[in-house]
Amino acid sequence: MISTQRMIPLATPNLQGREGELLAECISSTFVSSVGPFVDQFEAQIAELSGSSRAAVLCTGTVALQMALEGLGIGAGDLVLTPSLTFIATPNAVSHSGAQPWLVDVTDESWMVDLDLCRRLILAETVAGADGLRRHAQTGEVLRAIMPVMVMGAVADLDGVVALAREFGLKVVVDAAAAIGTTMADGRALAATGVDAVCYSFNGNKTITTGGGGAVAAADPELIARIKHLCSTGRVGANYDHDVIAYNFRMTNVQAALGVAQIERLPAFLDRKHQIRDRYAEFAAGHPALEAFPEPSFGENGHWFSGFWYTGADPDRPDAFRAHMRAEGIDLRPFWKPIHLQTPYLGALASEMPVSDALWQRIFPLPCSTHLTDGELDHVIAAAGRFWSGADA
Ligand SMILES: Cc1ncc(COP(=O)(O)O)c(C=O)c1O
Repeated sequence: MISTQRMIPLATPNLQGREGELLAECISSTFVSSVGPFVDQFEAQIAELSGSSRAAVLCTGTVALQMALEGLGIGAGDLVLTPSLTFIATPNAVSHSGAQPWLVDVTDESWMVDLDLCRRLILAETVAGADGLRRHAQTGEVLRAIMPVMVMGAVADLDGVVALAREFGLKVVVDAAAAIGTTMADGRALAATGVDAVCYSFNGNKTITTGGGGAVAAADPELIARIKHLCSTGRVGANYDHDVIAYNFRMTNVQAALGVAQIERLPAFLDRKHQIRDRYAEFAAGHPALEAFPEPSFGENGHWFSGFWYTGADPDRPDAFRAHMRAEGIDLRPFWKPIHLQTPYLGALASEMPVSDALWQRIFPLPCSTHLTDGELDHVIAAAGRFWSGADA
C-alpha cells in the first residue's frame, strides 16, 4: 500500500517572497540566459555578504570549488588537503581540477579539519624542494592548497587555516557551501580572513537557493576575473576567439533572479534557522545519550542544518532511531559517509580517521526548512521524545 502521508522533509526551498515576481521579469525581459541584470545584482550581493571585492556566480557549488582551484592555478600533479567528513562534492571538485585530494580526519570538538594533524602530516610526509614547493615523499605530488569545509554551515577556524597555509605556502579555498549567513566571531565576513576564495552552493536544500547554483567570492578581483573567463568558454572579444580550453559553467539570469529574491529574506531565514537549532539543542540537553551539534567558538553559525548526535555505546541505536523517525513521518537519513570510505576515493592519500569513523553514523540532521511550522517542529521533537525517553535510551 502506498502511504499518502507527507514525510516532513529535511530541508526544502522557501519560495514565498518575490521569487515569482522576479522570475516573471526574466520572462518579460527575455533575459533568461547567462547574462542579465539579476546576475550582476546577485554577484554584487554575494561579494558584499562575503566581505570580498567581487564574486562570480556559477551553475553549482561543486563547479564553484573547481573554478576556485583552477583559477588559483591548481591542477594535475597537485595535492589538496580536505577533510574526509564532507559531502563528496568537495573531493570531486579537486579531482575535476586535475589535482588529488589528501584526506584528513576532523576534530571531535568542531567536526572540522584537524589542523594539528594537517601540520604533522605535512612535516612527516612532504619534503620541501629547492623551488620552495613541498612534494609528497611517496607520490611526488606538490601540496598546493587546503580546502576547509564549514560542516553544516558552522564556522571553521579560518584564522588557524590561514596561519597553517602561510607556514607552508598553501592556497586556501573554503568550502562554505552551506555557510551563507555565517561570520567569524569578531564579525568579519568569511572572505575577509585572508583566505583565497570562499565557495557557496545555492542548491535547493540550502538556506538560500537558486534552484541549483554556486558562487566564488574572493578578495582578489583578478582571481574572480580569471574564474569568469574560465566559466564562460574563455572567450576574448566579441567574436569567436577563445584563448584557453574552458567551460560553460555560468549561472543564468533566471537562477540569479531567485537568488536576489531569496537574499531579501536572508535575515528572516537565519532567525528561523536559529530558532529551530535552539529547540533541538534544548531537547538534546534533556537526554543523556544525546548532544547538540558542536558550536565552534570561531564564529556565528548560520545553522544550515541542526539536530543532535548519539553519544551512547549501543551501535544499533542510531539506525533504530532513523527507522523510528521515518515511521513517524519524518525524513531522517544517514549523514555524509566519509570520503575515505567512498568507492572512488578508496585509494586516495588519507590520514588515520578515528573521529570521522566513530562519528558519521551517530549524526542526526533533523528537519530544518525555514518554512517548518511550529506544529511540525513540535511533532519532530515529540517523535524523538517517544524514542529517547528512558535511562540511556
Ligand atoms: C559541503 C558541500 N560542498 C559542496 C557542495 C556542492 O554543492 P552543489 O550541490 O551546489 O554542487 C555541497 C552541497 O550540498 C556541500 O554540502
